[in-house]
Amino acid sequence: MSADTSVRLPGMHAKNPVMTASGTFGYGMEFAPYGDLRGLGGIVVKGLSLLPRTGNPMPRIAETPCGMLNAIGLQNCGVEVFLRDKLPRLPFTETPIVANLYACDADEFAELAGVLSAAEGVAALEVNISCPNVKAGGIAFGQDPAMAGKLTEAVKKRAGDKPVWVKLSPNVTDIVGVARAAVLGGADVLTCINTLTGMAVDIRSRRPRLANVIGGLSGPAIKPVALRCVWQVCQAVSAPVIGVGGISSAEDVLEFILVGAHAVQIGTANFMRPDMAFRIAERLPALMDELGIKNLDAYRGTLAAG
Ligand SMILES: Cc1cc2nc3c(=O)[nH]c(=O)nc-3n(C[C@H](O)[C@H](O)[C@H](O)COP(=O)(O)O)c2cc1C
Repeated sequence: MSADTSVRLPGMHAKNPVMTASGTFGYGMEFAPYGDLRGLGGIVVKGLSLLPRTGNPMPRIAETPCGMLNAIGLQNCGVEVFLRDKLPRLPFTETPIVANLYACDADEFAELAGVLSAAEGVAALEVNISCPNVKAGGIAFGQDPAMAGKLTEAVKKRAGDKPVWVKLSPNVTDIVGVARAAVLGGADVLTCINTLTGMAVDIRSRRPRLANVIGGLSGPAIKPVALRCVWQVCQAVSAPVIGVGGISSAEDVLEFILVGAHAVQIGTANFMRPDMAFRIAERLPALMDELGIKNLDAYRGTLAAG
């Protein structure tokens, strides 16, 4: 095997581009029985808030054709418990651990960033300005370029030397406008994309399938949307982009690199098989060899004109 799968991102070196997406891989250790966490390019943990959250009422997951809807509502243990009980168990010296941040306003985001930036084992801060499942903030932040810029700036000021990733929403008319605002606000990396808003109903009970009625669509059904967003954002900004949305094979990974992504995150596919991210990371070098790709820098963004 000769392919070099390594990826350089601001302040970080990943052995491969295969990371896991926030909210689909717990706090990391839950997946240790299914593979070696050190074989992943990075682990993005479940969205963290300053205080623990119980999330939305059940049901909050519904299966859909080629995907799923979720309205978890950012249930999490809170940043203090994460830093005390979860992070120390992760192999953070070998695999970059990325904290995903959720807050209701700029001050809260800044405070959370301050707490996380002091943690040795945290490699980067991913700011979730795109969650469709919460009443305060969430997606509304990511739909307004000015707000996206302001929140990014607030986090960046308190992030110390930790790189700031901003996670964008596809639920906008112009994702490029929000991407540019985030970069102007100081984003080092952009993550594209969070879930698409959707809903599902039951014709017999006449009830929505999610207690929250509306949820976020993810899985293979959204891959073409994610690919389009990543391509558009890569054309518009020079910050590295991490692609996420429906990725479930090493071939999918290369599709995102081809349109310009530096790395990718595996999300809903982890629900299809808990060892999926490990398998994809293992398969990638052989696929690169098959296609004659020596390293990812040489392949990235080389999509030919249509
Ligand atoms: C059950 C579930 C929970 C999620 N929780 C979060 C979260 O806490 N923070 C976040 O930024 N994204 C969250 N996401 C979005 C994913 O990280 C990812 O952006 C999205 O699902 C698209 O990727 P996929 O199609 O590979 O799942 C969640 C997604 C799912 C399915």
